[in-house]
Amino acid sequence: MSIISKDIQKAIALLSNEELVAIPTETVYGLAGNIFSEKAIKSIFETKKRPFFNPLIVHLSSVDELETIVSEVPEKARILANAFWPGSLTLVLKKQKNIPNIITAGKDTVAVRVPNHPVTLELLRKLPFPLAAPSANPFNQISPTKPEHVERYFKNELKLVLDGGSCKNGIESTIIGFENGEPIIYRLGALALEDIEAVVGKVAVKNKKEENPDAPGMLDKHYSPSTFTVLTSDITSEIKKYPTKKIGVLAYNSSFTSDEIFTEIILSKTSNLHEAASKLYDSLHELDHLNLDIIIAEKLPEIGLGKSMNDRLQRAAFNN
Ligand code: TXA
Ligand code: MG
Repeated sequence: MSIISKDIQKAIALLSNEELVAIPTETVYGLAGNIFSEKAIKSIFETKKRPFFNPLIVHLSSVDELETIVSEVPEKARILANAFWPGSLTLVLKKQKNIPNIITAGKDTVAVRVPNHPVTLELLRKLPFPLAAPSANPFNQISPTKPEHVERYFKNELKLVLDGGSCKNGIESTIIGFENGEPIIYRLGALALEDIEAVVGKVAVKNKKEENPDAPGMLDKHYSPSTFTVLTSDITSEIKKYPTKKIGVLAYNSSFTSDEIFTEIILSKTSNLHEAASKLYDSLHELDHLNLDIIIAEKLPEIGLGKSMNDRLQRAAFNN
């Protein structure tokens, strides 16, 4: 029997009983539990096989709850929250004392956002506690953007994937921390850098592990298909390097169909970066289930969401 259902009452019952539920958001599906239940939070880490040094994002139903979670809100954080919540922006701020250390990996900051999905907003409004939710995938694997992706990963571990359809943004939230009141991007994501800068001015990006040891989730290899993956600006030459291999191509806007490739997916025939982002992970899931020898992904233009997608594809293609 499928664990995918729209039964919000069942989600409330499970979460209130310290169990986990996969929830839809506009970015990716999350693996959610009560932030104040040690049992639920431990079970998130165990289910994902996620190391405890990697902290979780707290999800709220409205910006009004922010002060119950964080102890300081710099002016630019306030401006960003008002501009983009509910939405695909996560803020890392000084935590309140009552936020359990297991959520924050012992740090004195906590990551928080108000997701923009009607089902999860309704769920959060009905629950008397916020939800911690990392992406609902095993550690380092491709994030889920459809309920079926979560079911495939966790059908033996979970009782419910709350069905909210396909995630319309399809890539994780943009994470912003603060140094001396100034915003710094820790993770590029579904909210484009340009949109953030339009509201608070120039923002530094410390998206790499070595640039920012404070963002422990930024691993070189992450978001990875199990199929060997390469990222290139020149698909045609890359294909020629693998004459005997079963190749899947993930292209941006144009077709490379030739006898040398087994299959191809085009992310956006109209060169729309939002459409491409919404299809990125679903396409990787699809290619990863075709028993290919290699996935050859095309680098996206380095603007807007193209930057965020290139970040994910670089990590997907990181081989050491
Ligand atoms: O779109 C999203 O953000 C999704 C949906 C479900 O909301 N969630 C998500 O969670 O992507 P997760 O756990 O896969 O990624 C959370 C990232 C990790 O890289 C983690 O290191 C970082 O947030 N993070 C959490 N708390 C932090 C903190 N206090 N300081 C710095 N980074 C933090
Ligand atoms: Mg994740």
